[in-house]
Amino acid sequence: MALLDVNHLDVRFALRRGDVQALRDVSFSLERGERLGIVGESGAGKSVAAFSLLNLIAKPGYIAGGSIHFDGRDLTAMSDRALRHIRGHRMSIIFQDPMMTLNPVLSIGEQMVECLKAHRRISTREARAISLRKLEQVQIPSPAARLDQYPHELSGGMRQRVIIAIALLLDPDIIIADEPTTALDVTIQAEIMALLLELCETHHVGLILITHDLGVVSQVSQRMLVMYAGRVIEQGPTREIINDPQHPYTQGLINALPQMATPGSRLNQIPGSMPSLDNLPSGCAFHPRCGFVERADGTTRRACIDLVPGYVTSGNGRVACHMVAEMLERERIPAEEIR
Ligand SMILES: Nc1ncnc2c1ncn2[C@@H]1O[C@H](COP(=O)(O)OP(=O)(O)O)[C@@H](O)[C@H]1O
Ligand SMILES: [Mg+2]
Repeated sequence: MALLDVNHLDVRFALRRGDVQALRDVSFSLERGERLGIVGESGAGKSVAAFSLLNLIAKPGYIAGGSIHFDGRDLTAMSDRALRHIRGHRMSIIFQDPMMTLNPVLSIGEQMVECLKAHRRISTREARAISLRKLEQVQIPSPAARLDQYPHELSGGMRQRVIIAIALLLDPDIIIADEPTTALDVTIQAEIMALLLELCETHHVGLILITHDLGVVSQVSQRMLVMYAGRVIEQGPTREIINDPQHPYTQGLINALPQMATPGSRLNQIPGSMPSLDNLPSGCAFHPRCGFVERADGTTRRACIDLVPGYVTSGNGRVACHMVAEMLERERIPAEEIR
């Protein structure tokens, strides 16, 4: 079994007008030391997925079905005490906004020491020494002086370095980073991403990187998931998906990358916008924006409009698309006729 194994995860928000299903049938796994990217536009369910991995979904949200096995144990069925041990200790999370993690009234050193002492039986002196070492690892200038500074005394980039140091504090197996650089200046984004990548590689820490930036995912991750309206519509090895995307939505995302456009031409943006979860279209949620509902011969693929697509295996990946299923079916039949 993989280190992390998510199966048929179903997360809902109980709202007055009824349940909103934020994650539907989400399944994926992560091997030890592996880096997985999760991409999708705003509202696709990326943060809900990140929070559920640590069983941190707050009311009115709840995990309505499925399982999240970490190191063989199901997080959805664990006591709060056991969960607290795993959070931080074995899996840590980096949020887009550093102030979600940092306490404004404690110095950096106080927060790091407090965190270490909550999980390990060590002296303050030892905890400070470990904290200093972690600040050195994230290449922060004058690390010793930082221990006595408060979050507001640091720049955005420095704060995110401190956050990475805190995420690494207890030597976790997995770091979940939810748009870790989105709030930073563009010039600093690449620096922080390179640092995170380097630290995960050196310390053999698994990374789940959530971003709306397909370019970053293609550089950092070995495998990727593409999310659309609460579902994973395509997943597989990053190289394969970038070079040969199967789902029309993934194709659209890749065609919209600036480096894919001919210089001087306009970017090929996918028309329309992602539907909201409480108002999903029938059939495939992407069908109103999809150029493949109509076949090349002019006939309409009714399944796209009427049926939610299941998953089909394509190469080393999985795709939820009727058109891909139909193409694979067509390739399969002649092959069998030969025998
Ligand atoms: N606290 C909440 N209450 C109700 N619905 C929520 C809440 N948080 C998220 N959702 C629903 O889940 C969807 C996905 O949210 P999110 O995971 O934050 O998207 P993103 O991919 O941008 O991170 C939202 O569009 C919304 O419909
Ligand atoms: Mg988000």
